[in-house]
Amino acid sequence: MINVIRTKDYEEASDKAFEVMKEYLKPGKVLGLATGSTPLGLYARMVKDHQENGTSYKEIRSFNLDEYVGLPISHPESYYAFMHHNLFDHIDIPEENTHVPSGLGEDLEGQARHYDEMIDACPVDIQLLGIGSDGHIAFNEPGTPFDSGTHVTDLAESTIKDNCRFFDNDITKVPTQAVTQGIGTIMKAKAILLIATGSNKAKAVKEMLEGPVDVSCPASILQRHENVTVIIDEDAAALLG
Ligand code: F6R
Repeated sequence: MINVIRTKDYEEASDKAFEVMKEYLKPGKVLGLATGSTPLGLYARMVKDHQENGTSYKEIRSFNLDEYVGLPISHPESYYAFMHHNLFDHIDIPEENTHVPSGLGEDLEGQARHYDEMIDACPVDIQLLGIGSDGHIAFNEPGTPFDSGTHVTDLAESTIKDNCRFFDNDITKVPTQAVTQGIGTIMKAKAILLIATGSNKAKAVKEMLEGPVDVSCPASILQRHENVTVIIDEDAAALLG
């Protein structure tokens, strides 16, 4: 079941997302985390709450959705670096409790299977998601099977263009592959929180909420999950009926 929360703008969406997330900031909880522009407001609120209210992450664990193939963790646009820069370095979560898939190594598919085994042993309580303008969740592009596990994938042309802004607007610098949790992996999370803001998400939001459940819109599978909260601002909701 999808519970849709509508907000005026990005700031209000981030406030609402924090309200949902706050319930999970407790010892023993396992957070599924995302990168990209969308969660930045939520992460800023989590950092502020940690600093001002002392909310502790010492007994919280986290699993990130994805990582670019070929970027070392020292690269500023690696998702490992993103998570440290925007969240982990500002809260008290132990490094060993955090997990970001590695995009480096001889056996990426073997590493991907190991990532799923770790998640199976430590089920995610709440998975945070953004959505791509093409309806992707994590880097599961249109056409990805709904039962996929963590795997290596090619990024869609539209995703490479969307992410160009993080690589000096130079399309040749954007990695073309990623390691991503599969849709099957994401669907195992006990609860899902998806945030979508801005007009470039409006079409994907409409397909996710009102379209058929079909691999052409990977996020449409969320209609089959029992506990989903979708937070959308006015611009992202513009095409809804
Ligand atoms: C990031 C991720 C992606 C993004 C999506 C939206 O870990 O898995 O699916 O959530 O591409 O990106 P933004 O938030 O930058 O619009």
